[in-house]
Amino acid sequence: MDRKLSSNEKYKILFVCLGNICRSPAAQAVMQRLVDERGLTERFLIDSAGTSGYHDGDLPDRRMRVHARPRGYELTHRSRRVEGSDFEEFDLIVAMDSANAADLRELAATPEEVRKIELISPYINHPHYDYVPDPYYEGSEGFELVLDLLEDACRNLLIKVLS
Ligand code: 4NP
Repeated sequence: MDRKLSSNEKYKILFVCLGNICRSPAAQAVMQRLVDERGLTERFLIDSAGTSGYHDGDLPDRRMRVHARPRGYELTHRSRRVEGSDFEEFDLIVAMDSANAADLRELAATPEEVRKIELISPYINHPHYDYVPDPYYEGSEGFELVLDLLEDACRNLLIKVLS
């Protein structure tokens, strides 16, 4: 994490998964609420994108929305693919798993852009997972697990950004 929150410019975080319809839009909503709860809405820009364009323009997966809603998250993001300009625009690009991180490194144009990519792993405290597993082919438990992991990881990531 080269840059942390400073007084004058918005801190911009991009969450990235494969399809941008399950994990990363959920991460975006979880982090947005944490920022809002702390009165920091104007200081941050939180967005998400996917390494594939499979679901371009789609709302998050219905199952992800159904599981997020009781926790108070309305997922309204429209899926989009990561683009080269994201590496200039964002301060921090957070990958949900190592495949996402590898794909992002392929897209980065400079060493500085590579340094903006971080795996979510160090922010997760879970006995079995140090990444956010793809829930797409899983049942309900998979979607609940994604939200549990993200609520923990985003809280820890925000502490680091603010430190
Ligand atoms: P996500 O989940 O990367 O968390 O959005 C997936 C969504 C769609 C597909 C794979 C993963 N897919 O293959 O269509």
